[in-house]
Amino acid sequence: MAGARGDHRDAAGRWARTLAQWTIPDAILAVAPENPWGFPPALFDSRDAPVGALHRLAAAALPDGGTVLDVGCGGGAASMPLAGRAAHLTGVDRSPTMLASFARAAEQRGVGHTEVRGEWPAVAGDVPPADVVVCRNVAYNVPGVVELVTSLTDHAAGQVVVELTEEHPSVTLAPLWMAFWGLERPRGPTAGDFAEVLDDLGYRPVVERETRPASKANASADQVVAFVRRRLCLDPSRDPEVAAALAGLHGPGQDVVTSVVFAWSP
Ligand SMILES: C[S@@+](CC[C@H](N)C(=O)[O-])C[C@H]1O[C@@H](n2cnc3c(N)ncnc32)[C@H](O)[C@@H]1O
Repeated sequence: MAGARGDHRDAAGRWARTLAQWTIPDAILAVAPENPWGFPPALFDSRDAPVGALHRLAAAALPDGGTVLDVGCGGGAASMPLAGRAAHLTGVDRSPTMLASFARAAEQRGVGHTEVRGEWPAVAGDVPPADVVVCRNVAYNVPGVVELVTSLTDHAAGQVVVELTEEHPSVTLAPLWMAFWGLERPRGPTAGDFAEVLDDLGYRPVVERETRPASKANASADQVVAFVRRRLCLDPSRDPEVAAALAGLHGPGQDVVTSVVFAWSP
């Protein structure tokens, strides 16, 4: 329930400005072999995704035979583990390949499903509400964080559950940006900034933190290198250098990621 506003001196404005600092200089973009911000579907297969706090909090608010809306669904990592309890899953994503993967996963689980292609929140008006709305690892792609939060909330009859990594996922690649391009990268935004946005909007969410291995269980080392090379706007011929730089980045036992899960009622 919305209450008094916090005082975080324009947390939403800071969110948008920090995201804007991730803009890649034109000279680097001009030589990027592919869109550096794309998500390879093979790395977002729902079978690889860990089941954790997001699913527990979502399941607790989900009636038997209920409905789930998964915004920025990818292959369905946030919603597929709820298929046993939910009767219907709706996935929204800008990528048709991701939506095909979501549909396949839902078919395999025998759960009803609908796919909506488009940019959230622009397409929100075309999407019916659900008992539970989940949104995992998407918020850092959306500069309009207030619109994101309010549109997710408007679509939930019972609960919104959002997961994001503790800091923007590309922050860990900052040393590689410096090594390959001599480019400073921002250090945010962070889940703490997202918390301030929620507070400013008057939401008082349940917050849980989880730390787990960063590497994707079914992804090969080559797929991870290719993903990082794409983020860094490099040519595939640089893969050996990228692999060496990645190995230097993660010392033994350091290849972990901390995520923060926020759950609130509309
Ligand atoms: C990092 S992946 C996460 C996928 C999935 N939620 C998961 O946890 O594995 C981000 C996904 O959100 C989609 N996406 C990012 N911003 C979006 C937006 N504004 N509207 C719709 N889809 C978006 C991308 O296409 C991608 O499939």
